[in-house]
Amino acid sequence: MSTLAGKAIGPIGLGLMNLTWRPVSVPREQAFAAIKTALDAGYNFLNAGEFYNAPERPCENLDYLSEFFKKYPEYLDKAVVSVKGAIGPDFSPQSDPESLMASIDNIAKHLAPKTLDVFEPARVDANVPIEDIVTTLAKAVEAGKIKAISLSEVSAKTLEKACAVQKIDAVEIEFSMFTTEPRSNGMFKVAAENGVTVVCYSPFARGFLAGAFRGQTKYNGDDLRQHFDRFSPENFAANQRTSDLIYEFAERKGVRASQVALAWIMYHEKLFPGLQLIPIPGASSPERVKENIVDFSLTDDEFNELEQILASAEIKGGRANAVMIKHMDV
Ligand SMILES: NC(=O)c1ccc[n+]([C@@H]2O[C@H](COP(=O)([O-])OP(=O)(O)OC[C@H]3O[C@@H](n4cnc5c(N)ncnc54)[C@H](OP(=O)(O)O)[C@@H]3O)[C@@H](O)[C@H]2O)c1
Repeated sequence: MSTLAGKAIGPIGLGLMNLTWRPVSVPREQAFAAIKTALDAGYNFLNAGEFYNAPERPCENLDYLSEFFKKYPEYLDKAVVSVKGAIGPDFSPQSDPESLMASIDNIAKHLAPKTLDVFEPARVDANVPIEDIVTTLAKAVEAGKIKAISLSEVSAKTLEKACAVQKIDAVEIEFSMFTTEPRSNGMFKVAAENGVTVVCYSPFARGFLAGAFRGQTKYNGDDLRQHFDRFSPENFAANQRTSDLIYEFAERKGVRASQVALAWIMYHEKLFPGLQLIPIPGASSPERVKENIVDFSLTDDEFNELEQILASAEIKGGRANAVMIKHMDV
């Protein structure tokens, strides 16, 4: 278990992006039931975004949370809310001091009565040294505007530079059986050495590993994923074949593929002493949240079996696309 913003969190969180960053938002009642189910299961780390909304519904993701906590004030103290922000209207990162503070203030305004526990600039602003960015964030902590500092989609090198000037509480990066780089690119090493909790986003490879597309040969939906290289018509089928193998592994064990995907992530705490991981699966209904509750850990043999499956498979297509990669600190 990690501690963030003064509270024990985890072992798993809930990603809220898909509730509102889609053409039609998930109905409030269903979204609130999903959040409540997670909190009741002890999954008290909620991951949100200032920009997780369709253009015509600004800050809807935060407004959902605010309404949830007005309806269920008994969860105010239990939940730890982390929000990504500091993204300009054209989706470019804006981390000069004024923009960071304006983003923090805007998030806090929408989130009330919930406090902004953890703030993270969503992407690295190449025009501002990371040392300056985290110094501004430290001032926000001092001023009582936020309780903890996180960085999102940064490289191990950037994290190391940030940690040299400021205590960094968390780092949010993509980690799943389809995106294994953090264990070899220095990220886990730097995080473990500096006591930084690693928040693992898209732990189901955006649904592939949870069996969301089982039986499909192409992506059918009308959401952001259709633009990702891994979902392109030429890559989809091969990636689905790999997730089928993981699905079959889960069936043999009598558990769900989504649970295997989360247990595989958590196993890495054993491999990297001192590493604290918290996967944040996205799930849009209480039923799905329940399906993703994990009450087992992988044995060494089970982990090795999964590693063999991954070694024999090629994950096709990058984890984003050329436009998105532009703002990633890789
Ligand atoms: N820092 C960053 O740059 C960044 C980038 C992307 C995401 N994130 C964060 O990470 C969170 C999760 O990432 P993500 O949503 O991209 O991907 P994900 O968690 O890997 O996958 C979410 C997908 O899996 C489906 N799913 C969940 N449980 C399932 C189950 N039991 N059976 C079948 N399908 C299931 C969901 O469907 P339903 O929604 O229909 O339930 C959704 O389509 C986001 O909410 C966001 O907070 C951060």
